[in-house]
Amino acid sequence: MSMTKVICFANNKGGSGKSTTCSNVGYAMSAMGKRVLLIDGDMQMNLTLSFFDEETALEYAKNGKNLYTAMREQKDLYDFIVPTEYENLDMIPSSTLMSSIEFELFTKWQREFILRQGLTKIMALNKYDYILIDSPPTLGCWVMNIMCASDYLIVPVEASPWGLFGLANMFEFYEQVKQIAPKLELMGIAVTKASERKNYFKQTMETLAELDNVRLFENYIRIDSTVEWAQDNSKPVCAYKKSSRAAGEYTKLTEEVLKYANR
Ligand SMILES: Nc1ncnc2c1ncn2[C@@H]1O[C@H](COP(=O)(O)OP(=O)(O)OP(=O)(O)O)[C@@H](O)[C@H]1O
Ligand SMILES: [Mg+2]
Repeated sequence: MSMTKVICFANNKGGSGKSTTCSNVGYAMSAMGKRVLLIDGDMQMNLTLSFFDEETALEYAKNGKNLYTAMREQKDLYDFIVPTEYENLDMIPSSTLMSSIEFELFTKWQREFILRQGLTKIMALNKYDYILIDSPPTLGCWVMNIMCASDYLIVPVEASPWGLFGLANMFEFYEQVKQIAPKLELMGIAVTKASERKNYFKQTMETLAELDNVRLFENYIRIDSTVEWAQDNSKPVCAYKKSSRAAGEYTKLTEEVLKYANR
């Protein structure tokens, strides 16, 4: 059995902090000595652009070193891994063509398991301790693929007035996925872009704490403009400015994630 643990970040609500959380938890894990593979499952390529400049990202999109090409041709993902500038941290980049992934999957046999199938070699080789997958803000066959390939689901939720909107659909979807991929476990909700002075922050935290069977991570991430500066420089904030508040908070969240994954 593979020792590699697969964690996906998903929420159908756009802008909830999926890509930021995936990139920083991934980077922080690698900085702690874990061997990490990041997979960008979104056509917006935000995870890819968190580690590569636009020119390099577009090169991967063009030369076939991307997830879309691998999935369309049902290839093993091992051959699509590219190194990042950081030790212990590799990536499978995305491409804007991921926009037609639903269409591509539609005619495939066992179409919910194409991604899991593609991870066979990487898992068998135990090349990584963790594989982290970023998702688009949708709930279709592709996100089902991402969840079916995962051991754990982390749901980033934005602490904003509309942050909880649609969360019920997300949990319903998760229950559906569990019927065909029973090993998937909801690790918890990670609150992002929090602003403690706002009324709705408290409301959001209270509402989330009241949810049945849903764990809330103790560490949440507050609004910090360093996150955006870091992204503008194609770096996760934990690598861009280690002393920033967001970097500290993401490091603590990562410790929580590791603790949970190793219970
Ligand atoms: N802690 C933070 N402080 C300030 N800005 C943040 C923080 N976290 C995320 N952001 C910003 O919020 C926006 C949305 O974040 P992100 O891209 O991670 O969300 P997402 O869920 O991946 O979005 P999408 O659904 O479009 O994929 C980005 O512009 C990002 O820079
Ligand atoms: Mg994103």
